[in-house]
Amino acid sequence: MGPLRVAVLGGGTMGREIARVFVTAGHEVTVWSRSPETVAAVRADLDGAVAGADSAADAANGADLVVETIVEDLGLKTALLAEVEPCLAADGVLTTNTSSLSITRLARGLRNPSRLLGMHWFHPASHMPLVELVLGADTAPDTLERAERVCASLGKSTVLVREDIPGFVVNRLQYALMREALALVAAGVVSAEDIDLAVSGTLGPRWCASGLFELMDLAGLNTVRRVSKVIMPALSTDAEVPELIEQLCAEGRRGATSGSGFYAWAADRLTRAGHARTAFLTLARDLARDRP
Ligand SMILES: NC(=O)c1ccc[n+]([C@@H]2O[C@H](COP(=O)([O-])OP(=O)(O)OC[C@H]3O[C@@H](n4cnc5c(N)ncnc54)[C@H](O)[C@@H]3O)[C@@H](O)[C@H]2O)c1
Repeated sequence: MGPLRVAVLGGGTMGREIARVFVTAGHEVTVWSRSPETVAAVRADLDGAVAGADSAADAANGADLVVETIVEDLGLKTALLAEVEPCLAADGVLTTNTSSLSITRLARGLRNPSRLLGMHWFHPASHMPLVELVLGADTAPDTLERAERVCASLGKSTVLVREDIPGFVVNRLQYALMREALALVAAGVVSAEDIDLAVSGTLGPRWCASGLFELMDLAGLNTVRRVSKVIMPALSTDAEVPELIEQLCAEGRRGATSGSGFYAWAADRLTRAGHARTAFLTLARDLARDRP
């Protein structure tokens, strides 16, 4: 695939990193953000390797691919996608990096809803080896094929989410585990620190090596069947926001950026967590390239 003209709309945490991924792979990138200062900051961060635009329409003019990654708001995203649709190249593809909104609903403002699909990135995009591709009810097979080719050109593997369900796949898996972890901590069965030790010392590395279904095969499905009989009925089925999360938020303990959450977040802890994340993700990305 030759270099594509890519418009990245939104210059926040995700937009900046996604622009980096496209530039590194040799594509021609234009970034638009609602503040010119943000566009300038992204350009400076990427050593001027991306162009900046004064309007979303200018950024999308003639684009082969649009990456919408502004704030998570249905009205704003729908309006922005509809605004840039007429500017795209004739066979251009529109993508949204929404984490939670329905692709089908986001496509409602479009003249041609078949050219939109969810391209859900993970942070930090430059290190995460995978992108979720999410079909809306109207997404055309051709739109998906193009998006798959784009991801291949970036060296990213893709997971296809065939239905536009809340949380897609990765966040659903994550929240299923979080629900159980929060229930166990709330019941006093185990501490948050020990849950983190358990995840980083067992599940995390194992899942990195094998994934979930391969692990079930390796454990033996008869064992999985027997253990399921005991454990499945005991798991949390709570459908509310977990009480522990409500309580910490009410106390102003909103996590790392507020200085405390489950842990106290001094600056050095934040720095160490950042370094550890980059080191592990680099290793995981390099190992993923060798997976059969
Ligand atoms: N942060 C993550 O880990 C992550 C991961 C995957 C997907 N996402 C999704 O990516 C998108 C962007 O998230 P982010 O983390 O980069 O957020 P962010 O807050 O860092 O950046 C949001 C961007 O939206 C722009 N924006 C805010 N209000 C706007 C408005 N009224 N009109 C136009 N632009 C506006 C901001 O200027 C900024 O450029 C969201 O849809 C989010 O759900 C985030």
